[in-house]
Amino acid sequence: MTDIINAIKSSAIKINKAIQTEDTSKAQTENSSGDVQVKLDLISDEIIENEFKKVSSIKEIVSEEKQDINPMHGNGDYLIAYDPLDGSSLIDVDLSVGSIFGIYKDEYSGPNIVAAVYVVYGPRVELVIARDVVELYRLDEEINEFIFQKELRLSEKGKLVGPGGTQKEWYSYHKKMIDEFFADGYRLRYSGGMVPDLHQILLKGGGLFAYPGAGDRPKGKLRKLFEVFPFAFVYNKAGGLAIDGKNDLLDLGIEHIHDTSPCFLGSNYEINRVLKTYSKVKK
Ligand code: AHG
Ligand code: MN
Ligand code: MN
Repeated sequence: MTDIINAIKSSAIKINKAIQTEDTSKAQTENSSGDVQVKLDLISDEIIENEFKKVSSIKEIVSEEKQDINPMHGNGDYLIAYDPLDGSSLIDVDLSVGSIFGIYKDEYSGPNIVAAVYVVYGPRVELVIARDVVELYRLDEEINEFIFQKELRLSEKGKLVGPGGTQKEWYSYHKKMIDEFFADGYRLRYSGGMVPDLHQILLKGGGLFAYPGAGDRPKGKLRKLFEVFPFAFVYNKAGGLAIDGKNDLLDLGIEHIHDTSPCFLGSNYEINRVLKTYSKVKK
């Protein structure tokens, strides 16, 4: 696993450099989810693939930006699913973006994720590793090394809500639930980048991040393997919860590698409130 973490660290240093120096415009292509790719999505994807090729413990990889699974080393133990540049549509407005990695054993599914790592490219570059515990590292650009900062734990209850999706398309019970959080004094924090939005809620102690199913996207937008399961793993290990409305996200499987799921991640109090609302919903 250390070799994988080191490959992620090297990728992050290179992607950070690319973000600072490369063209931020769109490419002429779409990915498997139908998103228009930016050039940096493709550059980041290639950087990661080249780093992972060198690691013999990796059996295969699958990227949000590629259609299919890419076999690596036949004797490897780990399967890695990654989102090379999350929030890339924010790159041209200079907001924070990230990279997300889910490390799986035997098969790609919620129960089979064994570690998760994400990187935030913000004013500083931070890296979070979730294994038994969740650890925060920060890049020291003078020496090109990630320095351990602290262990991250969620409080029982937070103060922030990040409500994703198209509000016009939200189901009425979802809108009512979000309105009630704000009526209770919660503050809105939503940049449109899953990595910085979830990083903020995690570092500020808790709250709720929601990307629900809605009229325009009944299965939500965020992809299980590349986005939802890795962050569900991080939030669980930090003492929080992660559900699709009714079920634990990490109990779910996939039908297809690019499957999406509604997701609610946060501290215990807020997620229990979501469960109360969603348990009454039929189907
Ligand atoms: P990506 O850039 O990898 O396609 O992911 C973008 C995701 C995620 O970062 C964010 O939470 C969500 O899309 C934002 O969606 P909306 O624009 O619908 O808010
Ligand atoms: Mn993404
Ligand atoms: Mn992406």
